[in-house]
Amino acid sequence: MQMQDIFKEYGDDLKRAEELMDVHLRSDVDMIPEVINHLIGSGGKRFRPLLLLVASDLCRYRGEKRYSLSAVIEFIHTATLLHDDVVDSAETRRGRTSANNIWGNAASVLVGDFLYSKAFKLMADADHLAIIKLLSATTNTMAEGEVFQLVKCGDVRITEKDYLAIIEKKTAVLISAACAIGGLLGEASQEQCEALTRFGMRLGLAFQITDDTLDYMAEEEQFGKAIGKDLQEGKITLPLIQTLKRCSTAEKRMIKEVVEQKNIESDAIGGVIALIERYKGVNYALDKATFFIDEGKRFLDVFPDGDAKAAFFTIADYIIERQL
Ligand code: IPE
Ligand code: IPE
Ligand code: MG
Ligand code: MG
Repeated sequence: MQMQDIFKEYGDDLKRAEELMDVHLRSDVDMIPEVINHLIGSGGKRFRPLLLLVASDLCRYRGEKRYSLSAVIEFIHTATLLHDDVVDSAETRRGRTSANNIWGNAASVLVGDFLYSKAFKLMADADHLAIIKLLSATTNTMAEGEVFQLVKCGDVRITEKDYLAIIEKKTAVLISAACAIGGLLGEASQEQCEALTRFGMRLGLAFQITDDTLDYMAEEEQFGKAIGKDLQEGKITLPLIQTLKRCSTAEKRMIKEVVEQKNIESDAIGGVIALIERYKGVNYALDKATFFIDEGKRFLDVFPDGDAKAAFFTIADYIIERQL
């Protein structure tokens, strides 16, 4: 099975979630649907809703709440992208000019807040206390992760442990929650819910690690975001952390100078990329991501074999191979 097959298999379900997103992004204030449609209409993998739907399937939940909660998860994700692009001064997103670049920072922050609070309204309507608790804690942790990342920005002394803490908080917890919600909706056993939480967490860690390698390696057209952006933002991710650990003192000094520059020239970025290549920083990061994927898959042992579990295995493998 390939990733396209899974998206196809869950195509009708995803469409239901998509229709709900369409309904709930409406507002009499024209700017709101305009900004949200720009972002939601420009693609996006819908990776998190897919996880929620597969997890629901795995736990044999067939009710309507899986659609509204898929919309909730994607709204939360979209809100964080709007905010993230302001914080990162991004110019492109999903292959288009980013919202902050068209409408400005204020609009992006405020429309992000609209989406965020709409997600909470929809979540409350689903009226499932355990899910309300889970998503409130999740979004709070995500905000904490973003602040922690800000604190570590430009600091070449950042450790792998700090990095893992940041990506767990900013990215993995939402992916984990998407999986766990399927278990909660399906009233799966505590052991199974726990397994989904852990599986999702490992997937989420691997997902952000691959994003961080793609930031150095991807084809810009396909990735839909600028390459070398993390370095420019002073965001020191795993390929560079590994390089900093292995390189010489002089090379470390050179990296530090580049990271501390305001507007880094492409030559300087090329120099850092050459060091990452020499010290196999990307390979190291991808090995780590593979480790998390393998670990994640093992948590699914508590579920009987079947189509939904097979779908989860394909999704897990896709994370390592993805190019966008
Ligand atoms: C981007 O997430 C932000 C990260 C956590 C790396 P996605 O890669 O899921 O973005 P879209 O939704 O497909 O554009
Ligand atoms: C993703 O961090 C974290 C979010 C939750 C948005 P990045 O800053 O690496 O995401 P991209 O690369 O801009 O999508
Ligand atoms: Mg960003
Ligand atoms: Mg990134």
